[in-house]
Amino acid sequence: MTVGRIWIDGSLVKWDEARIHILTHSLHYGTGVFEGIRCYKTMNGRAVFRLPDHIQRLINSCKIYFMDLRYSKTQLQDAVIDTISANGIEECYIRPIAYYGYGKMGVNPLPNKVSVAIAVWKWDEYLKNQTDPESGARLMVSAWTRIDAMSMPMHAKATANYANSALARVEALKAGFDEAIMLNRNGMVVEASAENIFIVRGNLLITPPLTSGALDGITRDSILTIAKEYKIPYEIRDILRDELYLADELFLTGTAAEVRPVGEIDNRLIGDGKAGVITKRLKSSFETIVHGKDKKFSKRWLTYVNQ
Ligand SMILES: Cc1ncc(COP(=O)(O)O)c(C=O)c1O
Repeated sequence: MTVGRIWIDGSLVKWDEARIHILTHSLHYGTGVFEGIRCYKTMNGRAVFRLPDHIQRLINSCKIYFMDLRYSKTQLQDAVIDTISANGIEECYIRPIAYYGYGKMGVNPLPNKVSVAIAVWKWDEYLKNQTDPESGARLMVSAWTRIDAMSMPMHAKATANYANSALARVEALKAGFDEAIMLNRNGMVVEASAENIFIVRGNLLITPPLTSGALDGITRDSILTIAKEYKIPYEIRDILRDELYLADELFLTGTAAEVRPVGEIDNRLIGDGKAGVITKRLKSSFETIVHGKDKKFSKRWLTYVNQ
């Protein structure tokens, strides 16, 4: 994929030497938690988008899974910056992961030590045609129900949750679509396999509440904050499947996928199949901010690598 250094428990090790034992607890039982963060090129050098918020979410995920991180929030933020600095890429995706290591097998993770690793790589296109500002992704509603708070703590970004996501995504890809939308057990729209969802009906922006089972996405929160700033009316409420078909615009948000317009869902065209007006406006504001060109938000949300 790439060659560089990966931070593991305080050391920057060579990419090819960043190995774990085959009996690592998290590998067998899904007891890892992770983050996805992005670093962007700006006029003042590289900057990480909402780093403290991502690290806080990692800390929260660890709390839920009884993981003793052994690093403070500041230490983890510094470790992210050190890892970016140790790798010579201008823009990158950042993957911190905390996991129960090798020690004692069995479902109980607690006897095992928690390790932390941080890897970075160039990841321009997570969803097909992501770099084309006009193109709309093709989605399908998955036959798999999204896991929810009855079985998993959805505020933890846990590796285990992604088995459910992977099933939905593979189902969509094999059926010729770009991504899957998942419904909860009440039939309400939750999110995509690794993105939150927004629809636009009339001039109103709508996204499902966290009680639907959706991840408390940092890009979702950024879009809602931007919408508020630009006086784009929005509602956080349950969305029915058929409302997706009747949406004037539809887009996904996520750190990897960024703001991704959707052109089709279950073979129904959304608008003219390309990015809609409100989607374009929000996407462009988001891009302006992450690239450090919006004084107010960039100051609030960017952590510069060389400071
Ligand atoms: C299931 C799921 N929903 C939503 C998101 C979007 O969250 P964020 O914007 O914080 O990347 C992600 C990505 O992390 C995800 O995996």
